[in-house]
Amino acid sequence: MDQHPMIDYRVLVDNLSTAILLVDRDLNIFYLNSSCETLFDISLLRASGQTVLNILQSPGDVFNTEEALFNSLKTGQAYTRREATIIVNFKDVHVDYSVVQLNTGKPYHPLLLIELNPIDRMLKISKEENLTQQHQVARQLIRGVAHEIKNPLGGIRGATQLLARSLNDPKYAEFTDIIISEVDRLRNLADTMLGSRQLPSYEPVNVHDPLERVRSLIVNQTKKKIIITRDYDLSLPEVKADRDQLIQVMLNISVNAVQAMTENKEFFTDQQPELILRTRIQRLVTINGVLHRSTVRIDIQDNGPGVPEDILESVFYPLVTGRAKGTGLGLSIAQNIMHQHNGMIECQSIPGKTIFSLYIPWELNHVAK
Ligand SMILES: Nc1ncnc2c1ncn2[C@@H]1O[C@H](COP(=O)(O)OP(=O)(O)OP(=O)(O)O)[C@@H](O)[C@H]1O
Ligand SMILES: [Mg+2]
Repeated sequence: MDQHPMIDYRVLVDNLSTAILLVDRDLNIFYLNSSCETLFDISLLRASGQTVLNILQSPGDVFNTEEALFNSLKTGQAYTRREATIIVNFKDVHVDYSVVQLNTGKPYHPLLLIELNPIDRMLKISKEENLTQQHQVARQLIRGVAHEIKNPLGGIRGATQLLARSLNDPKYAEFTDIIISEVDRLRNLADTMLGSRQLPSYEPVNVHDPLERVRSLIVNQTKKKIIITRDYDLSLPEVKADRDQLIQVMLNISVNAVQAMTENKEFFTDQQPELILRTRIQRLVTINGVLHRSTVRIDIQDNGPGVPEDILESVFYPLVTGRAKGTGLGLSIAQNIMHQHNGMIECQSIPGKTIFSLYIPWELNHVAK
């Protein structure tokens, strides 16, 4: 791009609210913008020539920043580190930062561009802890209620069958059949609320195998009314997982997407409903406080109206539903299964673009050494 005659781009970079750092191939600081000077309380003059490790690597940090940065320089792979702690004037500052290699056009002079965003980590952690606690309390409550509902159902069903037999009159059979089928419906519901009793059986799974299974189920169900696009990285490693449970997770999420698209036809005036299934490697993901070097990411994306804003924060909670006929269990079950696999599900949603991303660690060694 040609430089605009009126703008020196350094002025532009200096006015950004994001903190930006450039380091050379020896990891020495080459440039930092004004936001970065403010964040680290250091001037460009004092910082240039210093190793960036003085800033990014804090004592006691288990993450090997030096190795990760050199790796990025060598391979050109970008990465994002979340919730890193850096020390500024003896105080902890928490930042998310991403590292990208800048192509300078000279093969021996690669530069790294580091973009930092401070976050209020304590706030985030206490919020997450609260959410997890609430989630657990809600689950226990639900299991208790489901158990109590299930207990008398066997008795009601047996007694109704006896009654039907002793009445032996087709006139009443209609009523006893209703009781029995409603009891069965309640029992299925209670079973779903109690969750699977089977322990997962882990085996090496190529995630494309359950994903393809889910795709064919959805194709059958929707009879080609929805475009299904596959965007797979076929070089992904296998993960250790329970194949059937992965199918359940992917199916629960895909069915939600299909329901959101087919039940809101009026949303689609100038485009077709589309489900995108995407697989990728995602490096450096923190799940439940553990930083994983590499995970397999599976995105299930739709272009429907999006998760209603008022339930977006609590969408993984049991019994939270935005649909008249929904039970609100699908996502809570899916999230539980993913936790059992040391993984997680994340959701981002705006009208026209909703992505549920599954993360499954595939390397047994965490970054912590
Ligand atoms: N892709 C999506 N687009 C829009 N809304 C969604 C999407 N996925 C989930 N939701 C919203 O999240 C709610 C919760 O989903 P969840 O699967 O947990 O329960 P449910 O679908 O209502 O009931 P069920 O237990 O039958 O799955 C849904 O009711 C819906 O409002
Ligand atoms: Mg659902």
